[in-house]
Amino acid sequence: MSTFTPTHAHLAAAQRPSAPVPPVFIVNLVLKLRRLLLRAADAVVPSYMAVYDRFMGAGHTMLVHSAARLRIADLLVDGPFSGAELAARTGSDADVMERVMLALVSIGIFRRLADGRFANNRTSKGLITGATGGVRGFAEFFGHKPVLRAWARMPQTLEDGKRAFKEVHGQLAWDWIAGKPEVQAAFAEGMSSMTEVVAPAIAASYPFQEVKTVCDVGGGMGIVLAAVLRKHPHLKGILFDSESMLGEAKAYLEAAGIADRVELVAGSFFDSVPRGADCYLIKTVLHNWEDPEALKILQNCRAAMEPGQRLLVPDFLVLADAFSTLVPFMDMAGLMIYEGRERSPEKLAGMFAQAGLKMGRTAPLPGVQIVFEAIAV
Ligand SMILES: C[S@@+](CC[C@H](N)C(=O)[O-])C[C@H]1O[C@@H](n2cnc3c(N)ncnc32)[C@H](O)[C@@H]1O
Repeated sequence: MSTFTPTHAHLAAAQRPSAPVPPVFIVNLVLKLRRLLLRAADAVVPSYMAVYDRFMGAGHTMLVHSAARLRIADLLVDGPFSGAELAARTGSDADVMERVMLALVSIGIFRRLADGRFANNRTSKGLITGATGGVRGFAEFFGHKPVLRAWARMPQTLEDGKRAFKEVHGQLAWDWIAGKPEVQAAFAEGMSSMTEVVAPAIAASYPFQEVKTVCDVGGGMGIVLAAVLRKHPHLKGILFDSESMLGEAKAYLEAAGIADRVELVAGSFFDSVPRGADCYLIKTVLHNWEDPEALKILQNCRAAMEPGQRLLVPDFLVLADAFSTLVPFMDMAGLMIYEGRERSPEKLAGMFAQAGLKMGRTAPLPGVQIVFEAIAV
């Protein structure tokens, strides 16, 4: 994740006021209703139709990957266009483009007008480059061949429990990503877009007026720190990440107008975490690592903290009765690709205790994320 150059869209996002966040209970209610309706439909349609969609998942991945890679949603901002026009603009085969677009329409991405041309719909707008909460980058990332080959190892991984990516490619996914600028850019774009959508809710989730300096550990581009510092003008920030990531974060923080309040500290959270803040934050980092590494990161955070200080951990919420596929599939991506795992609140509380932290309050975020508060004991 180290050579992501912020796009104009991301720098523009840094300058925009925070987007309004829908109330968490409404988002979760709608997700539960959606699951109920899908189950009701599954109970009525012939079972082959209900199952077909699921085993054609590889096809879905590649259709959406292709649309993301060719930036079809960006093109359709100036549309609508026919399949032939889209083919001409992307250097693609016209017959194949028409059929690919029809297949995408059948899974609810893009819409076909009465005259046969294609247009964006609400779902495909999530594939527009730089859309807040958009997924273009991740849609491109998950269709890369080495990622697909790792998924294809699932039968052996079920037998031997080994992590797929390293077994298939002989290197960790993070090292592969770091060595491929186009893959790295797609991953970082996906990560930034998803963080932008929850950052304002994180900034509103905690009484930041009680503290003076917030350190974001593995804070990436500084998207969360920017949201927190913009909402709380008295705060100073420390952005802690790898050297190469910080180079890219600088432009983002400048565009957000808070660069003068942020100290950039380069290093590895496996060695140590900077001292001197009175509040620490670590967002969707622990789930990228297996237990021994995640525990080491927590211990290093604790070592930087004074008793009573807080570590805020915005992360995905594992529920026994998941009402969205997002977290269970993220857990599968941890198993098959990046060697991490999603953790239940109980599991996380146990790891906090091992690191000298105790579980405090929690604050839900829109979708299936939550902020856990860990207090140094
Ligand atoms: C999944 S991203 C999360 C970024 C950010 N917290 C967010 O939610 O947008 C993980 C972050 O951890 C950083 N990272 C990975 N290994 C690291 C290490 N050993 N020390 C410090 N940061 C590291 C990456 O550069 C990246 O910014």
